[in-house]
Amino acid sequence: MTTPQQLRVLFTRDEIGEAVARMANDINRDYQGRCPVLVGVLKGCFVFMADLVRLLDVPVEVDFAILSSYGAGKVSSGRIRVVQAPHRAIAGRDVLVIEDIVDTGLTISFFMDYLRSKKPASLKLCALFDKPSRRRKPVTVDYLGLTVPDEFLVGYGLDYNEKYRHLPDLCILEDR
Ligand code: IMP
Ligand code: MG
Repeated sequence: MTTPQQLRVLFTRDEIGEAVARMANDINRDYQGRCPVLVGVLKGCFVFMADLVRLLDVPVEVDFAILSSYGAGKVSSGRIRVVQAPHRAIAGRDVLVIEDIVDTGLTISFFMDYLRSKKPASLKLCALFDKPSRRRKPVTVDYLGLTVPDEFLVGYGLDYNEKYRHLPDLCILEDR
């Protein structure tokens, strides 16, 4: 039998929207006159990235990568693999990585190292949520939305076993 679970709103859609707008303003300011490649880390980025790109007024190209880190469950396996690399050439480009949440930092630091090895002109990280209390690898987040507590979060793209990604608010998933 599975444990019944309950959702509690941590950040409303409006609070998230304000954070996304602030990040978009910063990106518009910093990338003026350039055309960065945005590389979204699937699947968690899909809601955030869709909202973010529509607030950008610099021209961007959009690409995606698939990484495997978490198995099914709440704990990172720590073994990271690039399941699907970005299709766009990275060499010589301004690359901005779009991530849903930085938790231990293992996944994104692996991926930033991977992209750095492809010799981009510049490489920055944009992450909507940061859970710094769980960090195991130091990560520089160039554009950060909201800092979150050490709780398991779902909604606005984040899942638990592929469920809850569609929720418009960011919620804490609690075991009852
Ligand atoms: P990290 O390697 O521990 O930093 O975590 C990497 C990935 O795990 C994130 O990009 C998320 O996709 C996922 N993740 C981390 N924390 C949570 C959470 O609270 N809820 C849902 N997914 C999470
Ligand atoms: Mg992710």
